[in-house]
Amino acid sequence: MLTNNVSVRVLTKSMPLASFSKSLCGSAARQYSSDAENERRKTIMARGLPKRRELQGVSDIVLVASGKGGVGKSTTAVNLALAMANQSTKSIGILDADIYGPSIPIMMNLFDQPFVDETGKMIPLSNYDIKCMSMGFLIRKSDDALVWRGPMVMGALEKLAHGTNWVGTDIVVIDMPPGTGDIHLSVAQTLAVKGAIVVSTPQKIAVADAIKAVSMFKSVNIPVIGCVENMGTFSCPNCKSETRVFGDNNNVKSITTDLGIPFLGTIPLEPEIMRCSDAGTPVVIAHPNSITTKLYSKMGESILNFLQSV
Ligand SMILES: Nc1ncnc2c1ncn2[C@@H]1O[C@H](COP(=O)(O)OP(=O)(O)O)[C@@H](O)[C@H]1O
Ligand SMILES: [Mg+2]
Repeated sequence: MLTNNVSVRVLTKSMPLASFSKSLCGSAARQYSSDAENERRKTIMARGLPKRRELQGVSDIVLVASGKGGVGKSTTAVNLALAMANQSTKSIGILDADIYGPSIPIMMNLFDQPFVDETGKMIPLSNYDIKCMSMGFLIRKSDDALVWRGPMVMGALEKLAHGTNWVGTDIVVIDMPPGTGDIHLSVAQTLAVKGAIVVSTPQKIAVADAIKAVSMFKSVNIPVIGCVENMGTFSCPNCKSETRVFGDNNNVKSITTDLGIPFLGTIPLEPEIMRCSDAGTPVVIAHPNSITTKLYSKMGESILNFLQSV
């Protein structure tokens, strides 16, 4: 097709993407290689990056991420934070980075608006000895839809992170939103993060996104503390048989082997975990002696050990 003497080639159904890109790049087209791509991303991202900032008064920042939504990041973040608080003298905080869908207010049963201290910083709300900050504390009604563009979300996150008085908090656990996009990169690149925990169900499509999350953390040099398999097994309360609802496979464990990162363990699919979260009394608090709490405690111990070792 000729338009104003400029030759334009139109991508048609019959033209596969590979030949389209070849026609654009000609023989100079480089073969795609994930190593080369990672290096390229690293180089681009290293240019003019803002310095990674600490959260004032906080020793360690840990991210809980997943790639896919609904796999149990927030549930895991909350219960791991409580498990770490139970077995150490550390003061723990949770920063809810899910600006569009904050879960921490309901899960931690916190609904007030934070006060502001004399320096203008917000005082985190606290329950079960965990200091929390969430966009959910700041919007007027929890059912108000937040319709913001990316830069506004990043501005809000920056405000929640650095505009909160975390002084006296040893570890801040960041409950990340789903995905591996700009917001995730921005958090990973602008905060002095010690490590990330990646949560996934065993389902193939969740694991595929978890692999992307691991790869993103690797590309920004954030160590992956380990992967948590959530909702791995369901034990029938009647017949006691075990079912792997999201796949009868070892997907999460095997990716940790393939990617050379630790496997932190499996949390079962347990209606009580969900009920406790919805009631604002997380399972680690509601059932401190349960097997589930012991599983969270073991994972919490691995995270504490990791933080001590870096
Ligand atoms: N192990 C579990 N057993 C039962 N329900 C769970 C479990 N983990 C999470 N849930 C439930 O699954 C839903 C999604 O969990 P959530 O933590 O909000 O995921 P995310 O933060 O990844 O979107 C919630 O309803 C939560 O209560
Ligand atoms: Mg969540």
